[in-house]
Amino acid sequence: MRHPRLPPIVLFAARLLAACLATVPAHSAPEAPAAPRNLPKYVVGACAGCHGTSLEGGSAPSLVDATWKFGGSDDQIAASIRVGNPQAGMPAFGGSLSEKDIRGLVVHLRELASKASQRTNPAPRLNEKALNSSRLHSFLIETSTSNLVEPWSLAFLPDGRSLVTEKGGTLRVIVAGVAGAPVVGTPPVDASGQGGLFDVVPHPEFARNGWIYLIFADPQKKSDGKVQSMTAVVRGRIQGNTWNEQEVVFRAPLSTYRGSGGVHFGGRMAFDRAGFLFFSIGERGQGPDAQNLSLPNGKIHRVHDDGRIPADNPFVAQAGAMPSIWSYGHRNPQGLRIDPATDLLWEHEHGPRGGDELNRIQRGRNYGWPLATYGINYNGTSITDLTARADLESPLTAWVPSIAPCGLSVYSGDRFPLWKTHLFVSALGSKELRRIQIKEGQVVDQEIILKAPGRLRDVTTSPDGLIYLLLPDRVARLVPGGP
Ligand code: HEC
Repeated sequence: MRHPRLPPIVLFAARLLAACLATVPAHSAPEAPAAPRNLPKYVVGACAGCHGTSLEGGSAPSLVDATWKFGGSDDQIAASIRVGNPQAGMPAFGGSLSEKDIRGLVVHLRELASKASQRTNPAPRLNEKALNSSRLHSFLIETSTSNLVEPWSLAFLPDGRSLVTEKGGTLRVIVAGVAGAPVVGTPPVDASGQGGLFDVVPHPEFARNGWIYLIFADPQKKSDGKVQSMTAVVRGRIQGNTWNEQEVVFRAPLSTYRGSGGVHFGGRMAFDRAGFLFFSIGERGQGPDAQNLSLPNGKIHRVHDDGRIPADNPFVAQAGAMPSIWSYGHRNPQGLRIDPATDLLWEHEHGPRGGDELNRIQRGRNYGWPLATYGINYNGTSITDLTARADLESPLTAWVPSIAPCGLSVYSGDRFPLWKTHLFVSALGSKELRRIQIKEGQVVDQEIILKAPGRLRDVTTSPDGLIYLLLPDRVARLVPGGP
């Protein structure tokens, strides 16, 4: 090999390196850059030859640098793959790949592009020692309550105390920043797999009636003696440090309970201004059930505060339908909050690989899982090429790649005036806090406010207008700071 223009020292170094490499034992030999995980063979084979092993560029341009000659929307990228640009050397794949496969490729490209941009342009990391800045506000992060284990939900009481649940099954009362011992007598939970104790929400008239609502993975013994679980809702009152006067608000038929180590319980609750209680149940890993109105999973439900069925629920008159269902076609909703100013009900849910959704929930509507989705299967194969269908509700935004959202707050305080009415989303997978601004039903701005070192399970606004965030071992709050 000739290296015409290289100075001798470089040539020497290169030869030395080559000589060293030749003598390294085989097991530590440098490997070719790893092919992206989970990519179907046809991607590596059919694209990597020109676009590079990780599609970061070869003889053909990079597909992961967020610059698109022919447009970067999902549809435009799909069109580039389908029709190609044969004169310039990009083959048309429309004949050899199905629309499902092309959709799968678009998700792969988005995942790779997101990883590449995290490397070159990382989101700000949560900084507890200095001012954190974001586009609209600067803030400090303060720990407000420590010594927790996987806190899942935080709720403020009108008397200044707050309540926190831990996934493992404990409910604690926080007084002046200090979490008390677990409240005695709360219901047992199935904490295996994705199960556990989820949301805690006080009754809107808590000051008068003292009711506190819990939603959790409820373990029950079936007729064959096996203990299985399903999402259930109870309410009770805390007297001293004891859970008393428990009433069941919602418990699904035993036939719908599933084995332990289960997935997709949903587990959020929200009261609207009229005092109706909404709550979410994930599809429990049974996608098609989300479309079956006789089953409770994959649905948002609506009941009176004591569990009675409201007469104006959408499916009360439909034979065989569960009368508590308010909307359906959901995968795993772990964000559900009412905007106190507008009474709009916002929801987000985990999609499969790619395809987490932010939705506005409306009476009786079908949100499409698993008939239409922006995501693909975890093993890289496609579910459907349909991201939308006229008779199904489309999300306001879909996160591809997935962020695994868990926790939602509509900011309604005064301490961060430019954030008023914006949605805040915390996330398990991407460990980030996102701000989302919506105008006239459209997402007009979205920003990653911070990346945390661990999974984030809830974000909520306190009555005094601060934003509280559940870190894996404590509660922290965002406090305005800086100029
Ligand atoms: C034989 C070489 C070759 C193969 C194989 C190939 N491409 Fe390309 N591709 C190109 C070239 C060259 C361009 C640039 C075309 C141009 O600039 O007009 C391109 C452009 C593209 C673009 C448009 C990029 C932009 O900036 O808008 C996409 C998307 C794309 N390729 C995806 C793929 C995918 C996915 C595969 C595998 C299924 C693939 N390509 C396989 C050569 C190839």
